[in-house]
Amino acid sequence: MKFFVDTADTAEIEALSRTGLLDGVTTNPSLIAKSGRNFLEVIAEIARLVDGPVSAEVVATGADDMLREAAKLLTLGDNITIKVPLTMDGLRACKTLSDDGVMVNVTLCFSATQALLAAKAGAAFISPFVGRHDDVGFDGMSLIQDIRIIYDNYAFDTEILVASVRHPVHVLQAAKIGADVCTMPPAVIRALANHPLTDRGLEGFSADWAKTGQSIL
Ligand code: G3P
Repeated sequence: MKFFVDTADTAEIEALSRTGLLDGVTTNPSLIAKSGRNFLEVIAEIARLVDGPVSAEVVATGADDMLREAAKLLTLGDNITIKVPLTMDGLRACKTLSDDGVMVNVTLCFSATQALLAAKAGAAFISPFVGRHDDVGFDGMSLIQDIRIIYDNYAFDTEILVASVRHPVHVLQAAKIGADVCTMPPAVIRALANHPLTDRGLEGFSADWAKTGQSIL
């Protein structure tokens, strides 16, 4: 499974990229607004910080304007992935871009039929939002299961990029289903490594080692 970080905080991205565990970055207009920075500048900086795909989302709602915005965003780095919303205009822009060899991440996906359309439009990634589904009482992970079945039925190349991830259990469930990517806030990536028994065990090892009076170096 690939791990993408869902943030425009370049300090967090730099720190996580040093772990060697980071495979890409996703952003969206809300994350850009939260960063307080110029959109084009922060995307260009992120594209220099990581080798993997960096999703930069268009803000236009019409296909032609999406394509104009995409052309500008693609100048920011060779690893830029264009993010478009799952609307008919977004799908039209996705088809045009993917036919030209551009990586497209189709976002704001909330149904398997939407995901089917994105695959037919040649999307490199589909971003179903599990957390926002859970927030309104639906089972976000059942959506991931349905998309996995459909994509496998037709051998679509589109990668399932699980988004709106709220906690490590989402990542666990996504991995068991066989999703290709999880994008998550920095805190969730770090939480994946945490377990109280690991901490307790390490404390015990360290205390017992100290009793030996030895050192390795
Ligand atoms: O960036 C797409 C998605 O991960 C946003 O998730 O937390 O705003 O529901 P969230």
